Amino acid sequence: MRKLAAGNWKMNGSLAALAEVNDLIAAHPAPACEMLLCPPATLISAMAAIVRGSALLVGAQDCHTHSAGAHTGDISALMLAEAGATHVIVGHSERRTDHGETDAQVAAKAQAAQAAGLVAIVCLGETEAQRDAGTTLAVIGAQLDASVPEASTAANLVIAYEPVWAIGTGRTPTVAQIAEVHGFLRQRLAGRIGAEAAGVRLLYGGSVKPSNAAEIFAIADVDGALVGGASLKAADFGPIVAALSAA
Ligand code: 13P
Repeated sequence: MRKLAAGNWKMNGSLAALAEVNDLIAAHPAPACEMLLCPPATLISAMAAIVRGSALLVGAQDCHTHSAGAHTGDISALMLAEAGATHVIVGHSERRTDHGETDAQVAAKAQAAQAAGLVAIVCLGETEAQRDAGTTLAVIGAQLDASVPEASTAANLVIAYEPVWAIGTGRTPTVAQIAEVHGFLRQRLAGRIGAEAAGVRLLYGGSVKPSNAAEIFAIADVDGALVGGASLKAADFGPIVAALSAA
């Protein structure tokens, strides 16, 4: 399986920030892993024009469940594909919190993405209170069952495990905690989509940076990362891509 280093710019970036993309491509013309950046929707077309012919892929951070219609302010997966996106993140914890997205909505978004020919990156993860209560695996298992479309394949699904308490905090789970969740996810996914589960990339996300990337990428069933803050600068994301390529 080809591993995946994915960056989520969240609501950050500008046309001027696209200079970072040129730097990243120049530093990593042919990485051993896949390399993806998901900028705000307004930058997808411009970024897609820059990366054409390079190893860098462009993705989006959300999509609507429908392909078109009266949904003011929303963007469909088909539109993202036309703009040059190959992937779309769905169900990020910030969208689940800020916009009240449910597992059922996340599943519908993932299905819309896959129908449009995009790879759906489905995010899940426990809150700190859920981890403290010892319900991490139950929470994650339920999210996976209800957010992953049944017809998913290794080619159109990526799962990102992002503990909510590790996002943007500088805190990361222990190696044993990440290994436990990723092993559980692989097994649970097999129960849902069968043999395809073996080829689905399972990303870890939450305070991944150059200094901890190699340790995280050495963990079994960690097939890459979904990186927030450290994906904004080529000088930070580049070393993470290099660490994954070497893993
Ligand atoms: P940070 O890498 O900034 O912790 O964000 C992780 C994340 O939410 C990626 O989607």
